[in-house]
Amino acid sequence: MAAPEVRSGFTALYGAAPDGIWSAPGRVNLIGEHTDYNDGFVMPFALPHTAVAAVSRRDDGVLRLHSADTDGGVVELRVDELSPLSDREWTAYPAGVVWALREAGHLVTGADVHLASAVPAGAGLSSSAALEVVVALALNDLFGLGLEPGQLARLCQRAENVYVGAPTGIMDQTASACCEEGHALFLDTRDLARRQIPFDLAAEGMRLLVVDTRVKHAHNEGEYGKRRAGCEKGAALLGVDALRDVPHDGLDDALARLDDEEVRRLVRHVVTEDRRVERVVALLESGDTRAIGPVLTEGHASLRDDFRVSCRELDLVVESALAAGALGARMTGGGFGGSAIVLVEAADAGTVTKAVEEAFAAAGFTAPRVFEAVPSPGARRLS
Ligand code: GLA
Repeated sequence: MAAPEVRSGFTALYGAAPDGIWSAPGRVNLIGEHTDYNDGFVMPFALPHTAVAAVSRRDDGVLRLHSADTDGGVVELRVDELSPLSDREWTAYPAGVVWALREAGHLVTGADVHLASAVPAGAGLSSSAALEVVVALALNDLFGLGLEPGQLARLCQRAENVYVGAPTGIMDQTASACCEEGHALFLDTRDLARRQIPFDLAAEGMRLLVVDTRVKHAHNEGEYGKRRAGCEKGAALLGVDALRDVPHDGLDDALARLDDEEVRRLVRHVVTEDRRVERVVALLESGDTRAIGPVLTEGHASLRDDFRVSCRELDLVVESALAAGALGARMTGGGFGGSAIVLVEAADAGTVTKAVEEAFAAAGFTAPRVFEAVPSPGARRLS
């Protein structure tokens, strides 16, 4: 929904114009999956799909939330009564942000919020991070908190981890808050250092397709948490703070020290995946963009075979796209459904899309949703 409609929706709901309009995007991750809770590297970029929020400040402790995307009416809460894990609805994301800001000592005394999001939900494209970040940015401006985008991302992650109860890493919120148009974001999740890497596929005659398999995924349903716990066990057994500390050239030694086959597979994925992020950064910086294709595909194999977070539909996107001439393909995001990305020559975009759609039809799967991803701006104030 465009900003003018969100503005008029707000006015119709709350009887006065909003103080401002903000937007925050969803993301795809180019490479670096399940590395962000291992202090490793990730490389997401922002989608053109955004969550848009019209927000006014209040000083009476009342938080009113409304979404154009759900049937429910206005939900009214009190900022001093917000409590973690109390809410299983979409309202947990914006309310969690208010809770996290207040818990960190920022004086947020209420707000009226009207939201509309074009980020597909449950598609592994960070629709929840977009909701969190857009609200955080609005409150940062309206209450003059002076937090920079990386700090907002951390507070949003806290909202998601503690208030919503999903044990995710820092990638999605940082991507939504900090990405820049025409760039992918190289993020070191240990020290949160960020580097914007120019990523303009169109200029080089390529496209990046996103294929939403329509298989819904969810983070708080256990499997994500199990992988995370397995990685932490691996780090503890190896005597390091995080798997980031296992050097790539020490991987064989590390694996030889682990008895548990499952932990061994998790460790192998994380260590090789961090390496793949570094390889992709080096290839992009040396202008060898087409060569990232096989690295993406290797990443998929590692997520499928070692980390075991893929599913039949995601594998089929990758197989059918590669068979139709794609340069590389992989699942993106947490997995267990959601979306895959496919790197293609611009001239092959139609053929590859058709091949994937036909493979889904032949397998009897729900038709996927395919669109092109262009690196877009991060969160910002629109008016
Ligand atoms: C989800 C989480 C992220 C990250 C990815 C996997 O998107 O929210 O923090 O762990 O999965 O890379």
